[in-house]
Amino acid sequence: MTFISPSVLACDFSHLADEVIKMESAGADYLHLDVMDGHFVPNISFGPSVISSVRKVSRLLFDVHLMISEPAKYLDNFIRAGADIITLHIESEGNIGEMIDYIKEHDVRASLAISPKTPYEAVLPYLDKLDMVLVMTVEPGFGGQKMIPETLDKCRALRREITKRGLKTNIEVDGGINEENVWLCSSNGANVIVAGSAIFGSHKPRSVISKMRAECDLHPFAG
Ligand code: DX5
Ligand code: ZN
Repeated sequence: MTFISPSVLACDFSHLADEVIKMESAGADYLHLDVMDGHFVPNISFGPSVISSVRKVSRLLFDVHLMISEPAKYLDNFIRAGADIITLHIESEGNIGEMIDYIKEHDVRASLAISPKTPYEAVLPYLDKLDMVLVMTVEPGFGGQKMIPETLDKCRALRREITKRGLKTNIEVDGGINEENVWLCSSNGANVIVAGSAIFGSHKPRSVISKMRAECDLHPFAG
């Protein structure tokens, strides 16, 4: 099953509520919310108060991607804001295992992200308790970059390991994904697709979302 998660980073923030509602009617499954602190990544986006405002207008599954240095300090705020999934970067500070447990104790799905230079093996000690692994397909920090295809090798290795362990963990990919290259993601084992500019930059988001989903269905994991 493929899930499409439009990244609001690429939306028109002067009409945030309308943009989010538009995604829901365009058939999105998740809503990807990129939180950046200007320290973990060289960019600043938005925080929990924006997320809780958007929560009031949307029933989409909120997929919160934390690109912040000290996530432990803010987990409560994102849980209260209405996150359904919280993704931490394994490269961030703090006790990763404890943070995952904390998220799950609050009935929120837990996910770990790896930046392009981080090997996939880094997530293996946590894999059994994760709902999702996010394999970054660009360096985190900015929308509109080009996908780094080599990162997909990590999706393949992770999908094999997840299957071997009998788990149902989702694999999300994020960065530079569009209608033309999304098949590479699904055939390498990813099943949650984040796309910012490809979806919000189109006048026909509904058709981009359905084309992406169809491409993934046509190109399942090739093993
Ligand atoms: C990058 C963010 C992405 C970004 C994707 O750090 O994590 O979610 O918004 O944007 P596109 O699809 O435009 O590369
Ligand atoms: Zn993201």
